[in-house]
Amino acid sequence: MSETSLNDYKFSHEAEKAIDVSHRVSVAIIGTGWIAGDHIREYLKMPDVDIVALADLVPGKAAAFAEKHGLTNARIYENDLALLEAEKDLDAVSICTYNCQHAPCAIHALERGINVMLEKPFTVTLDEAVAVMKAEKASGKILTIGFQPRMSDNMKMIKKIVESGELGRIYYLQAGGGRRKGIPTPYGTSFIEKETGGIGAVGDIGSYSLDMLLNAVGYPKPLTVSGYTSDFLGTNPDYYQDHPEYASCFGVDDFAAAFVRLEGGIILDFRISWAMHMDTAGDALILGTKGGLRIPSTDCWNGEFDRPLTVYRDVAGEQVSYQVPLIAGGDLGSLFYKKLRGFVDAVKEGGSAPVPSAQILYNQAIIDGICRSAKEGHEIAIEIPEI
Ligand SMILES: NC(=O)c1ccc[n+]([C@@H]2O[C@H](COP(=O)([O-])OP(=O)(O)OC[C@H]3O[C@@H](n4cnc5c(N)ncnc54)[C@H](O)[C@@H]3O)[C@@H](O)[C@H]2O)c1
Repeated sequence: MSETSLNDYKFSHEAEKAIDVSHRVSVAIIGTGWIAGDHIREYLKMPDVDIVALADLVPGKAAAFAEKHGLTNARIYENDLALLEAEKDLDAVSICTYNCQHAPCAIHALERGINVMLEKPFTVTLDEAVAVMKAEKASGKILTIGFQPRMSDNMKMIKKIVESGELGRIYYLQAGGGRRKGIPTPYGTSFIEKETGGIGAVGDIGSYSLDMLLNAVGYPKPLTVSGYTSDFLGTNPDYYQDHPEYASCFGVDDFAAAFVRLEGGIILDFRISWAMHMDTAGDALILGTKGGLRIPSTDCWNGEFDRPLTVYRDVAGEQVSYQVPLIAGGDLGSLFYKKLRGFVDAVKEGGSAPVPSAQILYNQAIIDGICRSAKEGHEIAIEIPEI
């Protein structure tokens, strides 16, 4: 890599844009659980955003959320439809519901002409993602998917290295990482029940690692997938120290693996885990005809990593490797701020979605393909309908 490129990298932090407070944006939050707390914390830092309404299915939950965050003027509703019917001057919603309610809430909002920040994963199935995108197209409004790792300078460097040509033509991607013991149940069972989570590790943190790798190589279309999912640890009462009863509600995957063919002759070797008897399923790797890139394993791929990328090349006939210096300042809070700020700016300026659905459709198609292939027990073709 040239010195110029590295210097660009070191000094590429974007300057904060001045915020026009005379142009205000009315935002509502649908689903006031765990991640809604991260949304509200960052929205409250924005002087041009008014949080006007909140909705949650659980009686009293949205009101308690309003009180906790000092949202004395926010109107409270019992579900997304009640909110969207009553709030006539709304500009945007953050959809922070569990996965199975992503598609209905997004469609309801888009049909009413409201801009949408939709938490990841996009949806549970490919069919749902297609239905949401049809509503997006008909509305002409912004739909962005909540992948905050895209805002990380270190994550951006992965794409920058690939696009620089330093690795040559990319032919192989290996997803890795994942958790040894990390089934997400800090606030109950909404991630692990089929009726709420819909999909497990494959969608929750698998969608992050897919986005990191596919975004780096320009989101090639997925063609075929041979997938595997399992639930051996999640369904074992011994896994849960304080809540053995969670095992009987576990209806999703805790581990997934897949071999995916992508357009352009690229192979994706995928694995992810919420729970396994292993420390990591490996680093993420990108192999090209001129070089390779190692992305150190994380247990989540949510945007934070604390070890540098390593590039492998042959130089003057010798095998060399070098590390790319980490950029400081990529804590989760700042990434959430950037993801929501990017959305609010797009709403104000009529800009394009920071994380466009047209890309994440392919992410969802792979997740859907892994689940279908695992169920059917053989490789399947991925077919993506026209939107
Ligand atoms: N970007 C990230 O870093 C990150 C981190 C954690 C979770 N998430 C995502 O955020 C989503 C929510 O996760 P969570 O942990 O906050 O879940 P949660 O179960 O704590 O909260 C979801 C809330 O949505 C409410 N809800 C569901 N359907 C609704 C509807 N139609 N109208 C109103 N309220 C409704 C539920 O009652 C619940 O209170 C998940 O899809 C998850 O993948 C993203």
